[in-house]
Amino acid sequence: MNKELRQAIIAGNWKMNKTRPEARALIEELKPIAAEATCGVVICVPFTNLETAVELTKGTNIKVGAENVHFEEKGAFTGEISAAMLTEIGVEYVIIGHSERRQYFGETDETVNKRTKAALKAGLKPIVCVGELLWERECNITEEVIARQIKLDLYDVSAEDVKKTVIAYEPVWAIGTGKTASAAQAQEVCAFIRATLAKLYSKEVADAVTIQYGGSMNPGNAAELVAQPDVDGGLIGGASLKAADFGVLLKAASEG
Ligand code: PGA
Repeated sequence: MNKELRQAIIAGNWKMNKTRPEARALIEELKPIAAEATCGVVICVPFTNLETAVELTKGTNIKVGAENVHFEEKGAFTGEISAAMLTEIGVEYVIIGHSERRQYFGETDETVNKRTKAALKAGLKPIVCVGELLWERECNITEEVIARQIKLDLYDVSAEDVKKTVIAYEPVWAIGTGKTASAAQAQEVCAFIRATLAKLYSKEVADAVTIQYGGSMNPGNAAELVAQPDVDGGLIGGASLKAADFGVLLKAASEG
């Protein structure tokens, strides 16, 4: 097992939830719980909560991430936020290519690749999301879909930079649906992602990359998922909105 070669990270994805007072309350509740964790702890919050989150987590083990970033440095891109705008306020991570962005906002592997490179260039750590649709799994092309996403999303990303990148395997059929991939299914695809990285880069690089599972991970199923040899923590939607639930996941990944 090569788990000691990389960090397990539990990252919350708040999506479009929490007003500023609600964000403050959740972070304050989370701080003492997160302090116990030995895994990486990240909360990815809406743009309007980033400054609050950075401020409140100063001096703690909680890192802050955004949920998207644009690939250009500046210009006429109404509604977008640049990587430099994120780093200047102390944001360290950013989710890129979440399936909700691919599904509802026209995100493609090409734009995921551009955003990933722009984030890395600015010093942000990208959490790049990949995952198959239910139909693709039923047609038995999961590995083809994942290999294509990994190749395109990481095109032209150097070995040094890919080590700073987190990959989140999120089967689209498991997100927000209450349907979790079984531990065996999660392990199978995470191991496949690592093998793909080993082919594209090297075994040393592949062993160093954090590969999370995401999709209805919750206090009841987290321990089994994160105990898998190639599952290095998780990207968590619903269960990141309650401090106690998130705490159970942190504990599982710290022990896993
Ligand atoms: P979920 O979301 O945990 O609510 O399924 C995961 C995600 O979308 O990252």
